[in-house]
Amino acid sequence: MTRLGLCALALSLTVAACRKPPQPGDPLAGLTAQERDRFVHGRVVFDSAFTPATGLGPLFNAVGCGECHEDPKAGGTGDEVERHATAFHPAAAGRACDELAAKGGPVFQLHVTPLLHAALGIDSEPVPPEATAIARRTTPAIFGFGLLDAVPDSVILSYADPDDRDHDGISGRPNRFFDGRLGRFGRKALVPTLREFNEGALIAEMGVTSPAIPTEETVAGQPLPAGTDPAPDPELPREATDLLDAFVRLLAPPEQKLTREARQGREVFERTGCARCHVPALRTGDSPVPALRHREVAAYTDLLLHDMGPELADICLGLATPSEFRTEPLMGVRLRSKFLHDGRATTLEQAIDLHAGEGAAARDRFRGLAAGERAALIAFLKTL
Ligand code: HEC
Ligand code: HEC
Repeated sequence: MTRLGLCALALSLTVAACRKPPQPGDPLAGLTAQERDRFVHGRVVFDSAFTPATGLGPLFNAVGCGECHEDPKAGGTGDEVERHATAFHPAAAGRACDELAAKGGPVFQLHVTPLLHAALGIDSEPVPPEATAIARRTTPAIFGFGLLDAVPDSVILSYADPDDRDHDGISGRPNRFFDGRLGRFGRKALVPTLREFNEGALIAEMGVTSPAIPTEETVAGQPLPAGTDPAPDPELPREATDLLDAFVRLLAPPEQKLTREARQGREVFERTGCARCHVPALRTGDSPVPALRHREVAAYTDLLLHDMGPELADICLGLATPSEFRTEPLMGVRLRSKFLHDGRATTLEQAIDLHAGEGAAARDRFRGLAAGERAALIAFLKTL
């Protein structure tokens, strides 16, 4: 039967069955009219370009969320690369990682407003000498991340095997925020909730204060010179922050387009051990939003930390050591053209080839695959 015919048949059952699958940048299917409305208004906040008069800076990386998360649509990837720095002291009593919060870290902004430049003569926030590593961070896509936020902690913790009790060479351990809550957002999985990441991005990326974070950061630990931050705090009111959060939360995950070759590749993906970390599906728990509640999300991550070996290592963050990274969700990987946390891989093969540490065994199995199997696996990744 033609698609049209099927749709005509389905029409009598449910109209939803014929809806075009969501495209990148679209909202989740099945939202209420009010939720869609908040999504649309939230996108305006996401795409706004701030100025010093509306709250930009004095330190910032870009003028709006949409300047970085833009490709192919708002919420996507971007070519901006940021600078993060921390200090790792593994032998220290207590916390081994110093996020350099008292020195303006861990994000060291690359731009300053004209007023701050005039006052201090700097073009970016200096990284203090205490830092033991500086990291480059590419802009990831955040399509479908509202679903990742709705996955219960218990699901993530069920994949953790910190002492590798099953002896498969893969441990997987949770990162924890400073108050002990399970972390999941950011390349090092430090931030527990999407809400906190979004609010943190306002201040860290644009220097925009909000009711949640009403004060500006210091300049590498020094207070802002008088008169360099003209906009009154909070620079973004509660309602706008809420709308911004709604937009990010309600972005649909990219639709998977399985071809026949890709189906074979999925089997190779499982057999090669990729799915040990890139867990194909996670299930969400309760949520006030029905479209996020008890859904399966094709995340291809366990949201846990894995030791990826010394070549990829950079900064520590929370409990994450320099060589530990969160399994990057492969959801939407087809939309990316640079891979790994700093974008050093320009092809999927390269990204796999750079897996070491806990990822070494899977990488070696990938290298040992027949050419056809390898091609099928790559074809599969390109459907995600
Ligand atoms: C200067 C570019 C830039 C701007 C502006 C920016 N982001 Fe990001 N965003 C990034 C980078 C880089 C990361 C990855 C951070 C990391 O690797 O830990 C990121 C990560 C995220 C994540 C977590 C993704 C993950 O993998 O867990 C969310 C959510 C997010 N950004 C939302 C926002 C929102 C909302 C705004 C606006 C308030 C914003 N971002 C502004 C560059 C940017
Ligand atoms: C031990 C856990 C583990 C295993 C096994 C594993 N990965 Fe990964 N993978 C990761 C982590 C962690 C990252 C993020 C590394 C980084 O950003 O530096 C990652 C990143 C990636 C990326 C880059 C994604 C992006 O958007 O930057 C791809 C592609 C990928 N893995 C594919 C695979 C494939 C295919 C396999 C099987 C051959 C595999 N991985 C096995 C943990 C794993």
